[in-house]
Amino acid sequence: MLSITTWASALALFGAAYAGPTPPLSNNACSKSLGALGLPASWTKSIPCTGNARLTCSVLQHLFPSNETFTGGSQYYQTLVQVPYSAICEKDPACFVTPETSADVSLIMRVLTATNTKFAIRSWGHLPLPGWNAVGSDGVVISLERLQKKVLSPDKKYAVLGPGQNWATVYDWIEDQGVQVVGGRDPGVGVGGFLLGGGISLFNDKKGLGLDQVVRYEVVLPSGKVVNATTKENADLYKSLKGGLSNFGIVTEFEVITSDIIEINYEVNLYHKNATRAILSAYADFLRQDGPGDAVVQLEVSQNSTLVFYGHIGHVSSAPEFKAFRSIPIMTPFLPPTNGTVASFLFATVGSSGNGANGESPGSYYHASVAQKIPDSKLVLQAYDDYLEAAKMMAPGMSMYFAPQGFTSALVKAGNALNGGNIMGLHDAPQFWHDTYVTFPDVKQYGLAQKAVDSWEAAWTRKAKKEGSFLPIIYSNNGNVRSKPLGGYGRKNFDFIKKTAKKYDPKGVMQTLQNDGFLIRKEA
Ligand SMILES: Cc1cc2nc3c(=O)[nH]c(=O)nc-3n(C[C@H](O)[C@H](O)[C@H](O)COP(=O)(O)OP(=O)(O)OC[C@H]3O[C@@H](n4cnc5c(N)ncnc54)[C@H](O)[C@@H]3O)c2cc1C
Ligand SMILES: *[C@@H]1O[C@H](CO)[C@@H](O)[C@H](O)[C@H]1NC(C)=O
Ligand SMILES: *[C@@H]1O[C@H](CO)[C@@H](O)[C@H](O)[C@H]1NC(C)=O
Ligand SMILES: *[C@@H]1O[C@H](CO)[C@@H](O)[C@H](O)[C@H]1NC(C)=O
Ligand SMILES: *[C@@H]1O[C@H](CO)[C@@H](O)[C@H](O)[C@H]1NC(C)=O
Ligand SMILES: *[C@@H]1O[C@H](CO)[C@@H](O)[C@H](O)[C@H]1NC(C)=O
Repeated sequence: MLSITTWASALALFGAAYAGPTPPLSNNACSKSLGALGLPASWTKSIPCTGNARLTCSVLQHLFPSNETFTGGSQYYQTLVQVPYSAICEKDPACFVTPETSADVSLIMRVLTATNTKFAIRSWGHLPLPGWNAVGSDGVVISLERLQKKVLSPDKKYAVLGPGQNWATVYDWIEDQGVQVVGGRDPGVGVGGFLLGGGISLFNDKKGLGLDQVVRYEVVLPSGKVVNATTKENADLYKSLKGGLSNFGIVTEFEVITSDIIEINYEVNLYHKNATRAILSAYADFLRQDGPGDAVVQLEVSQNSTLVFYGHIGHVSSAPEFKAFRSIPIMTPFLPPTNGTVASFLFATVGSSGNGANGESPGSYYHASVAQKIPDSKLVLQAYDDYLEAAKMMAPGMSMYFAPQGFTSALVKAGNALNGGNIMGLHDAPQFWHDTYVTFPDVKQYGLAQKAVDSWEAAWTRKAKKEGSFLPIIYSNNGNVRSKPLGGYGRKNFDFIKKTAKKYDPKGVMQTLQNDGFLIRKEA
């Protein structure tokens, strides 16, 4: 627990450590704003208060004396440093602040803007991009882990979820209430990043993306103002948040439509690499039939084998939709045909996708996301060949995977039908959002991981454009540091997002003080 004395001595330390020129203090905007937040005048007068993250942290410690701000000396600081799923994202910030309410987040935003302090926002840290959910010693990480609201409406049609939840804690709770939600296929993924970036679930064709389910966002704007965004209130912000990512403010609550998909039939098989081309062809045919989404196939290709999930809504027996796959010889049955639930399946398979059995990260990640229409199987087979070529670059310990994530047009139609649709400008047809990624144990292999993934992306993109099957959508949640997903939504949507950001963040705080992200300023 912090007392005023430790705070004062910490302050003296920071003051003494500051060796720059003495800025005009008592009447500058910074000290005035800090004074308005209840800080002692003597403090704001005697200490330079802009661009000094360590000082900002002592301000935060003063404002949140109850164990909400963690600096290098505290034990929990180290735990927080290691939260990101990808080790390459670990950084040592000036401090972490862990707000408990949207009022806390509001106060934090006012302090950060008054002091011009860099910040990063974090929900569950699964996005593997350095600087997106962490910042170095010149900034503050706002970790939303304590925003753990989880409330079902009395009629069970809606659920309010805080970004401190991940899908594991949500699934665990909600299935017992007789409903589900459209959440991540890996229960460790955070509610915050998943729902802001899009959200691919097990039965996405039937329901649309995760973000299509959101009916209300509670947002703390950079000014500190807390607002709701719905189709009726701040409707432009609502529309923009359905794809516009962290360009407007910090989302402190998501209210989503619940899902009636609970009972499912599933089967998972592992195939020898020799079967992969047959599987990919069958998958392209399956998607081109453009079904309504009661049956789904999802797969993950590695150099030596391919893992395939067959899922069907309801408890059924040998669904006819999978007929074409049944003639392909199985190497190892991974999960036999089972009548279960969404949660029972997801909890049974953490570990099936290269993640440790306890959801632990294999080190670091690097992705690329590209998309295509599916006139036939030619391009997906090309993507596989290009993947095999790029995977030859892997050094010991590194693995490269190819996940051709397929949708039918039902996904796009479902999303468009919900509250005016999203801002992603999706093409209304069956399509692939390919996710090719490398896992690597040693952060020093980052350059090689990038080289392999980038070369795959470049080779495939050239062919896809030539074939006329290229789609500009980049799935940000599988994107990388070079990705410009906002532009992929189309000019009109991008302009709308820009206009919204200007209205709700006129000073451009999310663009300039946010450490990194899929930011408008990087695409303008
Ligand atoms: C093992 C694994 C499995 C995955 N499975 C799936 C899957 O099945 N389907 C799928 O669609 N994706 C999946 N993903 C991708 C995943 O959706 C993204 O990585 C997602 O961004 C993670 O969300 P997070 O909250 O954990 O991440 P974070 O890194 O905490 O957040 C991601 C980004 O969003 C910002 N952000 C987060 N919360 C907020 C907020 N409340 N307000 C403003 N900005 C915020 C952060 O600043 C950051 O830039 C998977 C990733 C991994 C590593
Ligand atoms: C401080 O917060 C951390 C993280 O929530 C918790 O683990 C720890 O027990 C808390 N300590 C005190 C003294 O409240
Ligand atoms: C946002 O909406 C919720 C639910 O209706 C309500 O409880 C809350 O007070 C609203 N917040 C603001 C800032 O209007
Ligand atoms: C895979 O193909 C290779 C080359 O054609 C062949 O030698 C091998 O026996 C095949 N393996 C299996 C399990 O079919
Ligand atoms: C694939 O098989 C080769 C040869 O059998 C092996 O060296 C390699 O480690 C395997 N790769 C993976 C990702 O398992
Ligand atoms: C699943 O349920 C269906 C319908 O009751 C039944 O026909 C089928 O045999 C069941 N499958 C398994 C593997 O239990």
